Amino acid sequence: MWSRRLFYLLAFASLSTTADELRQSKGMELIKAHCVACHSLQLVSQHRMNRNGWLESIRYMQRYHNLWALGPHEEPILDYLVSNYGPDAESQRRRANLPYIVHD
Ligand code: HEC
Repeated sequence: MWSRRLFYLLAFASLSTTADELRQSKGMELIKAHCVACHSLQLVSQHRMNRNGWLESIRYMQRYHNLWALGPHEEPILDYLVSNYGPDAESQRRRANLPYIVHD
């Protein structure tokens, strides 16, 4: 009985992909395409910055580390970074970070 309910629940959950989820997975693809060639994704994900901070990081890498121009991908990349690694990104997590691993 439970397994059948679970089945319907999962089937429904997988069908209801929202526009936001699509936007998120597109952003993730762009990050994978542009941001892991030189360093690990961890170097990106351990930071918390606002939009301007992320833009400055990108400009810095473009200036000193040969990061290429991101062109039309820059905006969606910034959207993704701010919504996942913005200053208040902690609150979107499943649970609060343990105090000793909080980065800010
Ligand atoms: C062409 C190589 C290259 C690419 C591609 C690249 N980076 Fe970097 N990035 C670097 C280097 C080199 C450093 C180390 C800079 C330093 O320590 O001075 C760095 C450092 C960083 C840092 C840490 C900055 C700090 O203050 O410690 C962040 C955050 C970051 N990159 C984010 C990104 C994001 C987001 C992207 C994709 C848009 C990206 N990087 C793509 C070369 C690159």
